[in-house]
Amino acid sequence: MMLMKKRAAANTRDRKPAKSAGKLFRAVRSRHEMAPKKVLVTGAAGFVGHHLVEQILKTTDWHVTTLDRLDTSGNLNRLVGINVWDIEKHRVRFVYHDLRAEINDSVARHLGGPFDYIIHLAAGSHVDRSIEDPLLFFMDNGIGTVHLLNYARRGGLRLKKNADPQARTPVFEGKFQYFSTDEVFGPAPEGVAFKEWDRNNPNNPYAAAKAAGEMAAISFAATYRMPIFITNCMNIFGERQHPEKFIPLLIKKVLAGDTVHIHANRNKTQAGKRSYIHARNISAASIWLLQNGRLLDGSAMQGKYNIVGEREVDNLTLAKLVAQYVNEYLAAKGKKTRPLKHEMVAFHASRPGHDMRYALDGSYLASEGFNVPVAFDESLRKVVRWTMDHPEWL
Ligand SMILES: NC(=O)c1ccc[n+]([C@@H]2O[C@H](COP(=O)([O-])OP(=O)(O)OC[C@H]3O[C@@H](n4cnc5c(N)ncnc54)[C@H](O)[C@@H]3O)[C@@H](O)[C@H]2O)c1
Repeated sequence: MMLMKKRAAANTRDRKPAKSAGKLFRAVRSRHEMAPKKVLVTGAAGFVGHHLVEQILKTTDWHVTTLDRLDTSGNLNRLVGINVWDIEKHRVRFVYHDLRAEINDSVARHLGGPFDYIIHLAAGSHVDRSIEDPLLFFMDNGIGTVHLLNYARRGGLRLKKNADPQARTPVFEGKFQYFSTDEVFGPAPEGVAFKEWDRNNPNNPYAAAKAAGEMAAISFAATYRMPIFITNCMNIFGERQHPEKFIPLLIKKVLAGDTVHIHANRNKTQAGKRSYIHARNISAASIWLLQNGRLLDGSAMQGKYNIVGEREVDNLTLAKLVAQYVNEYLAAKGKKTRPLKHEMVAFHASRPGHDMRYALDGSYLASEGFNVPVAFDESLRKVVRWTMDHPEWL
């Protein structure tokens, strides 16, 4: 009788609708399957990091430990603002650490590894700041990456069952993703799109320091047989981006009626160009690659993936689009619209270290089976509207 009651209770529980992604995954996982994966995301209080955490919470049952030092661009309110936070926050932990310092035993205990996946996004990310203080960027993006790789190889990344942790090259089960940028390849002439293993030609300290992190990752994969892959992404946009980045800055300037400076070639006839991709799509690609991607193997043939923007746009077209969406929003609220005021500026003189065009070839990732969804205009319109509704992010 007691047993029947228990079974009935269990059946009732099974029939209850799952309220969250975590609960849904737990409901479908057989009781013999493994525990949910443990993931470490560095830089999760930053713009891209918090979108990645959001996607993980929405599409997996993984448990996430976040690591951040909360500098000028880090803000935990990004995480608190994600729309499944209240029901999924039990799957997220935060550990404060600045990766310029090694992850010592005490910090490692706070992190609570080993992890199935380590996703490394923490970095100085603003080109102008890197031009002001290049050493800081090499500390964050170069040394910081080596500290994390060292942590991963010394117990931070999960080993295969029964692997000897004292072995010179222990056998790993987990994976490490180094999140890099298109800027490591330097400027792309019109008609050129760089492939994953093309030469690096970083033209500013930010790009050079990111390339340094890539080199460290490649060397650790070869030397310590660590399961690592690298992603090179193009310009990313989305909700809660730092106000000094181009799209939030455009919204702010249009609203204030200020003149927008459009970086252009020497004779100011052609604006600089970039490809843009929504942070949600980058996050989806990242999660897919963690499960399906190939790893670095020392051959310079695999383990590196370009994640290509949904659309290439020049800075003037982008400014016009943003101004259009800002004005649509203002008009819908019955408010006075503001025309875009802009001025073309020769970027060689005004912004040394900034390149006219970046471009990546995304055919490899597509051939492996992941296609980036394309909805640039609609995504941009939504981001502009969202930002106008949340002016605290401007
Ligand atoms: N935003 C883009 O368009 C773009 C494009 C390509 C690649 N990326 C890469 O994506 C990653 C995230 O970029 P983002 O735009 O979210 O940057 P962001 O500046 O918004 O976030 C970076 C986060 O890392 C943290 N951080 C920086 N240095 C740290 C350190 N030494 N120790 C601990 N935490 C530290 C900061 O506090 C911040 O929360 C970076 O690695 C960047 O190079 C970004």
